[in-house]
Amino acid sequence: MAHSRTLVEKSHLLHTHPLSQSPLVPIYKLIAFVAFVILSATLLFTIHDNGRTSIFPSGSIHSLSSEFCPQTMVLVPRANHKLWLNAGEEFNTMAFKASAIHWLSGAIQIETETYDDMGPVGEDPRWENRLQFHDYLEKTFPLVHTYLKLEKINTYGLLYTWQGSDDSLKPSLLMAHFDVVPVNPDTLSDWAYPPYSGWFDGELIWGRGSTDDKGALIGIMGAMEVLLRHGFQPSRTLVAAFGFDEEGGGYYGAQELAATVLNRYGEDSFAFVIDEGGGFAERFGTVFATPGVAEKGYVNVELSVSGPGGHSSIPPEHTTIGILSALLVELETHPFEAHIERNTSSYHLFQCFAEHGTAISPTLRDAIRLSASSDEALREVEVLLFQDPWYKSLVGTTQAIDMVRGGVKSNALPEQAWAVVNHRIATTTSVNATIEHDVALLQPLAEQFELEFSTLGKKISIPGGTPKGNLQLTRSFGMEPAPVSPYKGDASAPYQLLAGTIKATYNAHRNMPGDSDNIVVGPGMPTGNTDTKYYWPLSRSILRYKHLNGGSSNNYLTGAHTVNESISADSLLETFRFYTTLILNADESEEF
Ligand SMILES: *[C@@H]1O[C@H](CO)[C@@H](O)[C@H](O)[C@H]1NC(C)=O
Ligand SMILES: *[C@@H]1O[C@H](CO)[C@@H](O)[C@H](O)[C@H]1NC(C)=O
Ligand SMILES: *[C@@H]1O[C@H](CO)[C@@H](O)[C@H](O)[C@H]1NC(C)=O
Ligand SMILES: [Zn+2]
Repeated sequence: MAHSRTLVEKSHLLHTHPLSQSPLVPIYKLIAFVAFVILSATLLFTIHDNGRTSIFPSGSIHSLSSEFCPQTMVLVPRANHKLWLNAGEEFNTMAFKASAIHWLSGAIQIETETYDDMGPVGEDPRWENRLQFHDYLEKTFPLVHTYLKLEKINTYGLLYTWQGSDDSLKPSLLMAHFDVVPVNPDTLSDWAYPPYSGWFDGELIWGRGSTDDKGALIGIMGAMEVLLRHGFQPSRTLVAAFGFDEEGGGYYGAQELAATVLNRYGEDSFAFVIDEGGGFAERFGTVFATPGVAEKGYVNVELSVSGPGGHSSIPPEHTTIGILSALLVELETHPFEAHIERNTSSYHLFQCFAEHGTAISPTLRDAIRLSASSDEALREVEVLLFQDPWYKSLVGTTQAIDMVRGGVKSNALPEQAWAVVNHRIATTTSVNATIEHDVALLQPLAEQFELEFSTLGKKISIPGGTPKGNLQLTRSFGMEPAPVSPYKGDASAPYQLLAGTIKATYNAHRNMPGDSDNIVVGPGMPTGNTDTKYYWPLSRSILRYKHLNGGSSNNYLTGAHTVNESISADSLLETFRFYTTLILNADESEEF
């Protein structure tokens, strides 16, 4: 069993029902337990007459108070405390572990691949395996399919509604997607176990989709099934929306699902939206969870150079391919500068590292602390952190020349050469600013090569003379950086609820004392984009998080989009506990 047991002796409180230990629990232990529960309930929560719970109590007993990275407290369901303990006990059983593994394994075995060139739903038969996935869920989670309303949006999108009893409460939305990126057939032999086997090797469940994103989807479904089995009836409506083409941009799935939800509930109608994103991992000696509060923008810039063709025996000095190469070299020689800005979520995350990372180097810690008021220190932080490209990518706009094409024959001059530059846009800037940067950089070269430069609907001509060719710069797809979800102040209640839930889950899963600080939560940002882009109007609090255990790696998604994708059974089990705790906490919150 892979379950982490290192701190098992420290305490069973808030985790294990006292009577389950042994039928002969001494009475003094029972009394101590009851006293503890009453005491901690008094200390941990502000209990209101209506039975709802405030997560901002006046006298917080939190020990991780810090000026730069304040932490919310552990948040354990109160009104449904007994139910939560009982569900937690169930998660600890071998029987539940076996069914959890079975659930995910079966989901992996349905090959719901999304390809770049897929046609519309109803035309392209490659969507049809999604129906098998629907049937699989129906068979696997019978209570969910009895008590929740299920609608199929654009044939394959799944929209579950668990109607709450109190219409005055804003509903909450959980998202996941059940499509996967294709497996490259050339890499099949590199996999430890076949990608669609769902094989469990005693520790890991193997296969495409295990971490991205069927593990989360099964986690949500399983949590709802368990809650229903334990008799839970929500007061706050819960909606679950599962897309089927996230890996292709969510055009047919999430876009249609979001439109349906928006049309039904209206703008700003949801307490929060939680979709895939960050998990937790050890950094600088401390375990940090990093729910994504921001998301970078995205734009593809296409460059096309055209010129006269002809026989290559009488070539010009530069062919279109040569010119395009010069343009691309120019871009790579002048990458976007990455500078940390103080009012960004990434800077606040770095402050969390400095405040709570027990093994951070004193030099970095001091630089981050001083950088709050010293520009010099801030530049030093950049030098220190950016040695790891992951930190640099959080801060700056990136560029990657991902496609290039030109020429058809070895003895013919290429009439056209073409390339795509993929940009991920920093949260502090915009699509237009990114394109303007490229235009400004390339304009002198266009002049040097005597090209007419057409971009964004205007033409920049060559001063005095006939152009030797044409350079076209167009954008093929663009998305602004996402609005930043509140993670401080009054509007941040949903983020704080998530943070408290993460802490409660982490402690309960490891049998750690319920109110102890073992994991720090800081504002994160996923490296890729998610289906949430279609849901922006629905809620101020869009959070990207799925409670995957990343161990000591930056990458929570072991093997996602490549070979050997797998999830540990232990991390999967923790996923059920996470969604269960989240649903109960959200149901009880009075902050939204
Ligand atoms: C996948 O895992 C197997 C078994 O651990 C290993 O031999 C193989 O090198 C891994 N493949 C890659 C590409 O990491
Ligand atoms: C950050 O500060 C800059 C400069 O003061 C300001 O223009 C920008 O709006 C701020 N951004 C946020 C997210 O507060
Ligand atoms: C971006 O630039 C285009 C044309 O150059 C303009 O039409 C558009 O409004 C700009 N978008 C924003 C968000 O400023
Ligand atoms: Zn995904």
